[in-house]
Amino acid sequence: MKKTLAILASLLITSLVSPSIAAGDAEAGQVKSATCMGCHGLAGNSTIPNFPKLAGQGEAYLIKQLQYFKSGERNNAMMAGVASLLSDQDMEDIAAYYSIQTISENSAKGSAEQIELGRKIYVGGKMETQTTACIACHGAKGEGIPTAGFPAVAAQHAEYTASQLKAFRQYSINKQTGSDGVERVNEMMNNVAMGLTNEEIEALSQYIAGLH
Ligand code: HEC
Ligand code: HEC
Repeated sequence: MKKTLAILASLLITSLVSPSIAAGDAEAGQVKSATCMGCHGLAGNSTIPNFPKLAGQGEAYLIKQLQYFKSGERNNAMMAGVASLLSDQDMEDIAAYYSIQTISENSAKGSAEQIELGRKIYVGGKMETQTTACIACHGAKGEGIPTAGFPAVAAQHAEYTASQLKAFRQYSINKQTGSDGVERVNEMMNNVAMGLTNEEIEALSQYIAGLH
């Protein structure tokens, strides 16, 4: 009996903390996503390089970003306006919808040397700046680890990926120099991006665009 209770208790705890059990309704989300389509494309496959694709992205990650835009923790004028109109239920429904779509194909552009530089850092990190390999959190195919809140990055527009890596890096620059360039806050990514040059950011963004 004691054992059964312990098992039941642990099951209950797991179901309470597991992000895979979300309350979102994908059908309702599809209807609500009509206002997103102009920028994020049909079924979350944006064709505009500065607007990220949302198709296939982790549900918990999408909800978190929408909450960040609404609270101002993640700063983007376009998304602040959009997110301010969404309730928690809207965010859950829309995230449920986008997370089950399939991301459109993309490919790496650039020279063989550039792609190889991106691959090297993605898979092996950078010893001299103690930059952790991207593969540890974003996976061999760029699929991310949805349950841990690590986003998928594969097949994303290279322009968007580069802009985010620069924004993560800018947080560290702002902290060191007191400047106030557009930053994105996440401790793990701030530490990772801090050690990357522009050349490496471009290389990584192209490599990631071709991952699948
Ligand atoms: C006017 C254009 C526009 C509209 C409309 C719009 N977005 Fe966005 N969205 C953007 C831009 C630009 C970004 C990138 C912001 C940045 O650079 O930080 C973005 C980023 C996002 C992100 C973060 C993606 C990531 O990978 O981190 C999510 C989630 C998102 N939008 C959801 C939505 C949803 C849901 C709607 C509709 C309710 C919507 N957006 C409508 C322009 C738009
Ligand atoms: C220790 C884990 C970890 C490592 C290592 C890591 N990342 Fe991340 N990454 C994250 C997390 C967590 C987020 C989401 C941050 C948030 O919730 O705002 C993220 C977000 C991102 C994003 C933004 C995605 C989007 O849709 O906006 C990009 C791009 C990215 N990482 C690229 C990289 C690259 C390139 C590397 C290697 C140089 C790397 N990451 C290494 C954990 C990691």
